[in-house]
Amino acid sequence: MTQISAAHPPAPPQAAQSSKTSGTSLYGGVTTRRVTVRDLAGAKERGEKWPMLTAYDAMTASVFDEAGIPVLLVGDSMGNCHLGYETTVPVTLDEIAILSAAVVRGTKRALVIGDLPFGSYQEGPVQALRSTTRLVKEAGVGAVKLEGGERSLAQTELLVSAGIPVMSHLGLTPQSVNTMGYRVQGRADEDAHRLLRDAKAAQDAGAFGVVLELVPEELAAEVSRSLHIPTIGIGAGSGCDAQVLVWTDMMGLTSGKVPRFVKQYAALRSVMGDAAREFADEVRGGQFPAPEHAFH
Ligand code: KIV
Repeated sequence: MTQISAAHPPAPPQAAQSSKTSGTSLYGGVTTRRVTVRDLAGAKERGEKWPMLTAYDAMTASVFDEAGIPVLLVGDSMGNCHLGYETTVPVTLDEIAILSAAVVRGTKRALVIGDLPFGSYQEGPVQALRSTTRLVKEAGVGAVKLEGGERSLAQTELLVSAGIPVMSHLGLTPQSVNTMGYRVQGRADEDAHRLLRDAKAAQDAGAFGVVLELVPEELAAEVSRSLHIPTIGIGAGSGCDAQVLVWTDMMGLTSGKVPRFVKQYAALRSVMGDAAREFADEVRGGQFPAPEHAFH
Protein backbone atom coordinates (compact mmCIF):
# COMPACT_ATOMS: atom_id res chain seq x y z
CA MET A 1 0.00 0.00 0.00
CA THR A 2 2.95 2.34 0.55
CA GLN A 3 3.63 2.26 -3.19
CA ILE A 4 0.08 3.20 -4.02
CA SER A 5 -0.04 6.13 -1.67
CA ALA A 6 3.26 7.41 -3.07
CA ALA A 7 2.05 7.22 -6.67
CA HIS A 8 -1.56 8.01 -5.86
CA PRO A 9 -2.22 10.55 -3.13
CA PRO A 10 -5.73 9.94 -1.76
CA ALA A 11 -8.36 11.46 -4.03
CA PRO A 12 -11.14 13.53 -2.50
CA PRO A 13 -14.57 11.86 -2.36
CA GLN A 14 -16.11 11.92 -5.81
CA ALA A 15 -19.22 13.80 -4.84
CA ALA A 16 -17.00 16.81 -4.13
CA GLN A 17 -15.48 16.83 -7.63
CA SER A 18 -16.40 19.21 -10.44
CA SER A 19 -19.08 17.82 -12.73
CA LYS A 20 -18.34 20.11 -15.67
CA THR A 21 -18.41 18.18 -18.93
CA SER A 22 -15.02 17.91 -20.54
CA GLY A 23 -14.81 18.26 -24.30
CA THR A 24 -11.83 15.92 -24.28
CA SER A 25 -11.71 12.21 -24.87
CA LEU A 26 -12.32 9.89 -21.95
CA TYR A 27 -9.29 7.86 -23.01
CA GLY A 28 -5.60 7.88 -22.29
CA GLY A 29 -5.54 9.64 -18.94
CA VAL A 30 -6.13 13.05 -20.52
CA THR A 31 -8.59 14.02 -17.81
CA THR A 32 -7.06 15.74 -14.79
CA ARG A 33 -10.07 15.17 -12.59
CA ARG A 34 -12.62 12.46 -11.94
CA VAL A 35 -14.77 11.37 -14.87
CA THR A 36 -18.40 12.27 -14.21
CA VAL A 37 -21.71 11.02 -15.53
CA ARG A 38 -21.89 14.20 -17.61
CA ASP A 39 -18.70 13.14 -19.41
CA LEU A 40 -20.39 9.84 -20.24
CA ALA A 41 -23.43 11.68 -21.60
CA GLY A 42 -21.06 13.76 -23.74
CA ALA A 43 -19.39 10.60 -25.05
CA LYS A 44 -22.78 9.23 -26.13
CA GLU A 45 -23.52 12.48 -27.99
CA ARG A 46 -20.16 12.27 -29.78
CA GLY A 47 -20.58 8.55 -30.50
CA GLU A 48 -17.40 7.82 -28.52
CA LYS A 49 -17.27 4.28 -27.12
CA TRP A 50 -15.73 3.70 -23.71
CA PRO A 51 -14.50 0.78 -21.59
CA MET A 52 -15.49 -0.13 -18.05
CA LEU A 53 -13.87 -2.75 -15.81
CA THR A 54 -14.69 -4.13 -12.42
CA ALA A 55 -12.24 -3.56 -9.56
CA TYR A 56 -12.27 -4.76 -5.98
CA ASP A 57 -9.06 -3.42 -4.44
CA ALA A 58 -6.91 -0.28 -4.44
CA MET A 59 -3.85 -1.68 -6.20
CA THR A 60 -5.68 -3.23 -9.16
CA ALA A 61 -7.84 -0.11 -9.41
CA SER A 62 -4.72 2.08 -9.58
CA VAL A 63 -3.41 0.01 -12.52
CA PHE A 64 -6.68 0.47 -14.44
CA ASP A 65 -6.85 4.16 -13.51
CA GLU A 66 -3.33 4.74 -14.81
CA ALA A 67 -4.25 2.79 -17.98
CA GLY A 68 -7.03 5.32 -18.64
CA ILE A 69 -10.08 3.17 -17.91
CA PRO A 70 -12.64 5.92 -17.24
CA VAL A 71 -15.20 3.94 -15.23
CA LEU A 72 -14.63 1.27 -12.57
CA LEU A 73 -17.44 -0.81 -11.14
CA VAL A 74 -17.09 -2.29 -7.68
CA GLY A 75 -19.47 -5.01 -8.78
CA ASP A 76 -21.16 -7.62 -6.66
CA SER A 77 -19.29 -10.00 -8.98
CA MET A 78 -16.76 -9.65 -6.15
CA GLY A 79 -18.83 -12.50 -4.66
CA ASN A 80 -17.56 -15.02 -7.23
CA CYS A 81 -14.32 -13.29 -8.25
CA HIS A 82 -12.87 -12.04 -5.01
CA LEU A 83 -14.67 -13.34 -1.93
CA GLY A 84 -15.07 -17.02 -2.87
CA TYR A 85 -18.89 -17.19 -2.86
CA GLU A 86 -20.64 -19.26 -5.52
CA THR A 87 -22.92 -16.43 -6.64
CA THR A 88 -23.37 -12.69 -6.06
CA VAL A 89 -26.33 -13.27 -3.73
CA PRO A 90 -24.44 -13.50 -0.39
CA VAL A 91 -22.47 -10.25 -0.96
CA THR A 92 -23.24 -7.70 1.77
CA LEU A 93 -23.39 -3.92 1.79
CA ASP A 94 -20.47 -3.89 4.26
CA GLU A 95 -18.32 -5.82 1.77
CA ILE A 96 -19.25 -3.47 -1.08
CA ALA A 97 -18.57 -0.42 1.14
CA ILE A 98 -15.12 -1.59 2.27
CA LEU A 99 -13.93 -2.59 -1.21
CA SER A 100 -15.46 0.52 -2.84
CA ALA A 101 -13.53 2.73 -0.41
CA ALA A 102 -10.35 0.87 -1.39
CA VAL A 103 -11.03 1.40 -5.11
CA VAL A 104 -11.74 5.11 -4.57
CA ARG A 105 -8.46 5.44 -2.59
CA GLY A 106 -6.54 3.72 -5.40
CA THR A 107 -7.81 6.00 -8.17
CA LYS A 108 -7.56 9.63 -9.19
CA ARG A 109 -9.55 9.87 -12.41
CA ALA A 110 -11.99 7.00 -12.80
CA LEU A 111 -15.64 7.34 -11.92
CA VAL A 112 -16.13 4.65 -9.28
CA ILE A 113 -19.56 2.99 -9.22
CA GLY A 114 -20.64 0.97 -6.18
CA ASP A 115 -23.01 -1.96 -6.80
CA LEU A 116 -26.03 -2.23 -4.53
CA PRO A 117 -25.97 -5.89 -3.41
CA PHE A 118 -28.94 -8.23 -3.11
CA GLY A 119 -31.12 -7.28 -0.14
CA SER A 120 -29.89 -3.68 0.10
CA TYR A 121 -32.59 -2.02 -2.05
CA GLN A 122 -35.40 -4.50 -2.83
CA GLU A 123 -37.46 -3.43 0.23
CA GLY A 124 -38.07 -0.05 -1.36
CA PRO A 125 -36.79 3.44 -2.09
CA VAL A 126 -36.03 4.33 1.54
CA GLN A 127 -33.85 1.25 2.01
CA ALA A 128 -32.13 2.00 -1.32
CA LEU A 129 -31.41 5.57 -0.21
CA ARG A 130 -30.05 4.39 3.15
CA SER A 131 -27.73 1.85 1.47
CA THR A 132 -26.59 4.32 -1.17
CA THR A 133 -25.93 7.03 1.39
CA ARG A 134 -23.46 4.66 3.06
CA LEU A 135 -21.62 4.01 -0.19
CA VAL A 136 -21.47 7.71 -1.06
CA LYS A 137 -20.45 8.93 2.41
CA GLU A 138 -18.26 6.09 3.67
CA ALA A 139 -16.70 4.88 0.44
CA GLY A 140 -16.86 8.04 -1.68
CA VAL A 141 -18.37 6.39 -4.77
CA GLY A 142 -19.58 8.72 -7.52
CA ALA A 143 -22.57 6.59 -8.54
CA VAL A 144 -24.39 3.35 -7.76
CA LYS A 145 -25.77 0.50 -9.84
CA LEU A 146 -28.89 -1.53 -9.16
CA GLU A 147 -30.60 -4.39 -10.98
CA GLY A 148 -34.03 -4.08 -12.61
CA GLY A 149 -35.88 -1.55 -14.74
CA GLU A 150 -39.58 -1.14 -13.92
CA ARG A 151 -39.23 -3.19 -10.75
CA SER A 152 -36.61 -0.76 -9.37
CA LEU A 153 -38.21 2.42 -10.68
CA ALA A 154 -39.21 3.96 -7.36
CA GLN A 155 -35.70 3.32 -6.00
CA THR A 156 -34.06 4.93 -9.05
CA GLU A 157 -36.35 7.97 -8.87
CA LEU A 158 -35.66 8.61 -5.18
CA LEU A 159 -31.89 8.19 -5.53
CA VAL A 160 -31.78 10.49 -8.56
CA SER A 161 -33.90 13.10 -6.78
CA ALA A 162 -31.40 12.92 -3.90
CA GLY A 163 -28.63 13.80 -6.36
CA ILE A 164 -27.10 10.36 -6.73
CA PRO A 165 -26.26 9.09 -10.23
CA VAL A 166 -27.82 5.66 -10.83
CA MET A 167 -26.85 2.99 -13.37
CA SER A 168 -29.48 0.39 -14.15
CA HIS A 169 -28.72 -3.28 -14.94
CA LEU A 170 -30.99 -5.26 -17.30
CA GLY A 171 -30.98 -8.52 -19.24
CA LEU A 172 -29.35 -11.21 -17.13
CA THR A 173 -29.47 -9.88 -13.58
CA PRO A 174 -27.26 -12.22 -11.50
CA GLN A 175 -29.01 -11.39 -8.21
CA SER A 176 -32.02 -13.26 -9.66
CA VAL A 177 -29.96 -16.32 -10.60
CA ASN A 178 -32.22 -18.57 -8.55
CA THR A 179 -35.20 -17.78 -10.80
CA MET A 180 -33.44 -16.82 -14.05
CA GLY A 181 -30.39 -19.06 -14.24
CA TYR A 182 -27.42 -17.90 -16.35
CA ARG A 183 -28.80 -17.69 -19.89
CA VAL A 184 -29.25 -15.17 -22.69
CA GLN A 185 -32.23 -12.89 -22.05
CA GLY A 186 -34.66 -11.22 -24.45
CA ARG A 187 -34.73 -13.88 -27.19
CA ALA A 188 -38.52 -14.20 -27.27
CA ASP A 189 -40.44 -11.21 -28.70
CA GLU A 190 -42.28 -10.64 -25.46
CA ASP A 191 -39.02 -10.62 -23.45
CA ALA A 192 -37.39 -8.28 -25.95
CA HIS A 193 -40.31 -5.82 -25.65
CA ARG A 194 -40.12 -6.01 -21.86
CA LEU A 195 -36.39 -5.27 -21.93
CA LEU A 196 -36.91 -2.24 -24.17
CA ARG A 197 -39.70 -1.02 -21.85
CA ASP A 198 -37.43 -1.55 -18.82
CA ALA A 199 -34.60 0.39 -20.43
CA LYS A 200 -36.86 3.33 -21.29
CA ALA A 201 -38.37 3.26 -17.81
CA ALA A 202 -34.89 3.41 -16.25
CA GLN A 203 -33.98 6.33 -18.50
CA ASP A 204 -37.24 8.16 -17.68
CA ALA A 205 -36.58 7.62 -13.97
CA GLY A 206 -33.26 9.46 -14.41
CA ALA A 207 -30.71 6.62 -14.73
CA PHE A 208 -27.51 7.83 -16.43
CA GLY A 209 -26.72 4.48 -18.05
CA VAL A 210 -27.97 0.93 -18.51
CA VAL A 211 -25.92 -2.26 -18.32
CA LEU A 212 -27.19 -4.88 -20.77
CA GLU A 213 -25.98 -8.34 -19.77
CA LEU A 214 -26.31 -11.43 -21.99
CA VAL A 215 -28.71 -9.94 -24.52
CA PRO A 216 -28.80 -10.72 -28.28
CA GLU A 217 -26.64 -8.24 -30.21
CA GLU A 218 -29.53 -6.98 -32.38
CA LEU A 219 -31.73 -6.23 -29.37
CA ALA A 220 -28.88 -4.50 -27.49
CA ALA A 221 -28.20 -2.36 -30.58
CA GLU A 222 -31.88 -1.42 -30.82
CA VAL A 223 -31.99 -0.47 -27.13
CA SER A 224 -28.81 1.58 -27.59
CA ARG A 225 -30.31 3.47 -30.53
CA SER A 226 -33.57 4.09 -28.64
CA LEU A 227 -31.96 5.61 -25.55
CA HIS A 228 -30.22 8.95 -25.14
CA ILE A 229 -28.23 7.54 -22.19
CA PRO A 230 -25.34 5.12 -22.75
CA THR A 231 -25.75 1.36 -22.77
CA ILE A 232 -22.90 -0.68 -21.34
CA GLY A 233 -22.80 -4.18 -22.78
CA ILE A 234 -21.49 -7.43 -21.37
CA GLY A 235 -22.23 -10.35 -23.67
CA ALA A 236 -24.47 -7.98 -25.64
CA GLY A 237 -22.47 -7.51 -28.84
CA SER A 238 -20.87 -4.51 -30.47
CA GLY A 239 -23.86 -2.17 -30.77
CA CYS A 240 -23.64 -0.86 -27.19
CA ASP A 241 -22.14 2.52 -26.35
CA ALA A 242 -19.67 1.02 -23.88
CA GLN A 243 -18.34 -2.40 -22.89
CA VAL A 244 -17.75 -3.82 -19.43
CA LEU A 245 -15.84 -6.94 -18.43
CA VAL A 246 -15.10 -8.51 -15.08
CA TRP A 247 -11.38 -7.88 -14.63
CA THR A 248 -10.45 -11.36 -13.39
CA ASP A 249 -12.09 -12.86 -16.50
CA MET A 250 -10.45 -10.57 -19.06
CA MET A 251 -7.00 -10.87 -17.42
CA GLY A 252 -7.19 -14.68 -17.39
CA LEU A 253 -7.14 -15.01 -13.60
CA THR A 254 -10.48 -16.78 -13.27
CA SER A 255 -10.25 -20.58 -13.13
CA GLY A 256 -12.45 -22.94 -15.11
CA LYS A 257 -14.53 -22.29 -18.20
CA VAL A 258 -14.58 -18.72 -19.43
CA PRO A 259 -17.88 -17.44 -20.87
CA ARG A 260 -17.94 -17.05 -24.66
CA PHE A 261 -18.40 -13.27 -24.49
CA VAL A 262 -15.12 -12.78 -22.58
CA LYS A 263 -11.92 -12.01 -24.44
CA GLN A 264 -8.82 -12.80 -22.39
CA TYR A 265 -6.20 -10.08 -22.78
CA ALA A 266 -3.66 -11.70 -20.44
CA ALA A 267 -2.97 -15.04 -18.76
CA LEU A 268 -2.48 -13.93 -15.16
CA ARG A 269 -3.40 -17.30 -13.67
CA SER A 270 -0.49 -19.05 -15.33
CA VAL A 271 1.88 -16.07 -14.82
CA MET A 272 1.10 -16.02 -11.08
CA GLY A 273 1.15 -19.80 -10.74
CA ASP A 274 4.56 -19.99 -12.47
CA ALA A 275 5.95 -17.23 -10.24
CA ALA A 276 4.65 -18.93 -7.08
CA ARG A 277 6.15 -22.28 -8.15
CA GLU A 278 9.51 -20.65 -8.96
CA PHE A 279 9.53 -18.90 -5.57
CA ALA A 280 8.72 -22.20 -3.82
CA ASP A 281 11.47 -24.05 -5.73
CA GLU A 282 14.05 -21.36 -4.91
CA VAL A 283 13.15 -21.38 -1.21
CA ARG A 284 13.42 -25.17 -1.12
CA GLY A 285 16.69 -25.10 -3.08
CA GLY A 286 18.22 -22.30 -1.01
CA GLN A 287 18.59 -19.87 -4.00
CA PHE A 288 16.26 -17.35 -2.35
CA PRO A 289 17.11 -15.17 -0.55
CA ALA A 290 20.38 -14.42 -2.35
CA PRO A 291 23.10 -12.21 -0.80
CA GLU A 292 21.57 -9.05 -2.36
CA HIS A 293 18.30 -9.67 -0.48
CA ALA A 294 19.93 -9.80 2.95
CA PHE A 295 20.90 -7.05 5.42
CA HIS A 296 24.18 -6.89 7.41
O1 KIV B 1 -21.15 -7.11 -10.63
C1 KIV B 1 -20.67 -6.92 -11.76
O2 KIV B 1 -19.47 -7.08 -12.02
C2 KIV B 1 -21.58 -6.52 -12.81
C3 KIV B 1 -21.04 -6.43 -14.20
C4 KIV B 1 -20.98 -7.77 -14.79
C5 KIV B 1 -21.82 -5.48 -15.02
O3 KIV B 1 -22.72 -6.29 -12.56
